[in-house]
Amino acid sequence: MTFFDPKPKVKKEDLYNREEELEKLKFALKTSPLILILGLRRTGKTSLLYTALNEFKIPNIIVDLRALPQDKVLSLSEFTSILRQQINNFLLKRRKIAKHFLKLVEHVEGIRVMGLSISFKKSRREKINLAGLFEALNEAAEREGIRMVVAFDEAQELRRIAAYRLDRLLAYIYDRLRNITLILTGSQIGLLYNFIGVNNPASPLYGRARSEIRLKNFTHEQSKEFLIKGFKQYNMHPPDSFIEYAINKLNGVVGWLTLLGYKAATQRRVDKSLVDEMIEEAEKLALNEFNHFLNLRWQAKRRYILIMKTIARLEKAAWTQIKTSLEISINKKVDDKNFTTLLKNLVNSGFIHKNQMGEYEISDPILKYALK
Ligand SMILES: Nc1ncnc2c1ncn2[C@@H]1O[C@H](COP(=O)(O)OP(=O)(O)O)[C@@H](O)[C@H]1O
Ligand SMILES: [Mg+2]
Repeated sequence: MTFFDPKPKVKKEDLYNREEELEKLKFALKTSPLILILGLRRTGKTSLLYTALNEFKIPNIIVDLRALPQDKVLSLSEFTSILRQQINNFLLKRRKIAKHFLKLVEHVEGIRVMGLSISFKKSRREKINLAGLFEALNEAAEREGIRMVVAFDEAQELRRIAAYRLDRLLAYIYDRLRNITLILTGSQIGLLYNFIGVNNPASPLYGRARSEIRLKNFTHEQSKEFLIKGFKQYNMHPPDSFIEYAINKLNGVVGWLTLLGYKAATQRRVDKSLVDEMIEEAEKLALNEFNHFLNLRWQAKRRYILIMKTIARLEKAAWTQIKTSLEISINKKVDDKNFTTLLKNLVNSGFIHKNQMGEYEISDPILKYALK
């Protein structure tokens, strides 16, 4: 693989500048039953997760929650169907654990064993005992004398499952199942915190110790070295002006740097217009993600868009500035509290953040260009 391979990385040598985070994760895996990997979109959370589990050879089940349908409340079966697939993949790879597990899980309510795989019973009235499922997994791991990881990638999506308290299930795993380490990743950090109830004493996971790893954007220097080293793998040596132009536009977001490098390397092009083309394409992706946010909040859709456009236009903007601008646009007073809630929702979803001066900024440069 190369630095510019667009898939999540799985090997240490393909992961640039994450040595410290890997060490931290290694330590956390030995000591902590709950690990959070946090960072904005495309900062390399999934890559860090895959690489760590691969390098440290930890048996794992990773549930990629981006595979869930977007823009709506979810049923439990939409979740269990991707969970089932990942468990079955795991069983194929880990025959010894599978043997124990299948024997144990056979008796769990709502679960059917067929050959080397499981399925969930369909009938409506029949409950699925998910806690029992994870108990069986834990017991199987225990019998093999191992600890395993169950990871939920983009775990804030679990909040959309309305009819089932997954937070309770996670708390149960945390409290009772010693051979399972939970890893949750999240791009929408505020939403993830709300889901696991970091600040809510009534929440089942409240007060549980956890390890957190936060992925930051690359600095200017790191971005530069990343691009130069990446291009070297393709025997390319782009001019400094190209590299600087790209870095200034992409703001140290490794996923965007990778996408640019991939395009440049496959097309053998290193002119500024390639950067502009790549940004135009990336804008569609970023806008699409913002639209998913809006579609879950259609009542205030227009307001969210106006707020985001104001911040994008001003680069950074104070609370009052944004509010005034919104009021002018819709020609109506907006209640302070409601307005603050709108901003908070945008912050929690990772679209904007406060800078040190207390002003709001758009977090992803690409989304900012798209909104201008
Ligand atoms: N440290 C890194 N070094 C090289 N490439 C990386 C690194 N982190 C992420 N990438 C690349 O950036 C892109 C986005 O990474 P990903 O792990 O999917 O981010 P996230 O899960 O935070 O959205 C992928 O193409 C991945 O290969
Ligand atoms: Mg990811």
